[in-house]
Amino acid sequence: MRVPCKIVAETLELLRQKIQPGVTTSALDQIAEKHASKSNAVPAFKGYSGYPFSLCCSVNDQVVHGFPTTEELRPGDIVSIDFGVVYDGFYGDAAITLAVGSVSNDALMLIKVTEEALYKGIEKATARNNLSDISAAVQAHAEKSGFSVVREFVGHGIGRSLHESPQVPNFGKPGRGVKLKPGMVLAIEPMINQKGPGVKVLSDGWTAVTLDGGLSAHFEHTVAITENGPEILTVFS
Ligand code: MF3
Ligand code: CO
Repeated sequence: MRVPCKIVAETLELLRQKIQPGVTTSALDQIAEKHASKSNAVPAFKGYSGYPFSLCCSVNDQVVHGFPTTEELRPGDIVSIDFGVVYDGFYGDAAITLAVGSVSNDALMLIKVTEEALYKGIEKATARNNLSDISAAVQAHAEKSGFSVVREFVGHGIGRSLHESPQVPNFGKPGRGVKLKPGMVLAIEPMINQKGPGVKVLSDGWTAVTLDGGLSAHFEHTVAITENGPEILTVFS
């Protein structure tokens, strides 16, 4: 799984370098597809339950599963980019949220806190912890900072399929759920809203947006639980 995960991380790094006002998210989708195929990997989302693109690009109040479009990104936008590939039968999945040009302090804070919340969760992904220790750590960090946690979408086990059990919520009391064991691999992916936690899915059947129009950020890593603690597989090296 280190191989597909590295390809995903490299792709996100490539996209990070391309982000600037004037770039379209469909151009980003093309770049991701090219990098996957150059790496002998297959984009994991295209065709998954009928999802029509390789990348999910969720701008501003879009939470997850936004479609790449030919609209140009504008200064002040934030964009969440989610990508997965399959390589030799194994999946990798990761997401980042990026600022386009200069953005509001609140947007910057939302991005920072969401990434920190992911790492707070990852710290709890150790053998003999319970699954919900991850969830509780993510929630505590997000809410302490005045933001709110999306309930309708969750992280997941990952391996020979993109989505495996268990589900990994970003909220809940600690000490619940399965015991974590070496060899398990989880995609931990907090989606954090600037205002209220509510979301709805648009009539395209995919794009999730905040109910109140507030901003939303999303960070994701694929993480292996080892005897030596969590190993983040979707790292760029
Ligand atoms: N990282 C997201 C997830 O795990 C992206 C899935 S997009 C889909 O749910 F198209 F594959 F559903
Ligand atoms: Co995922």
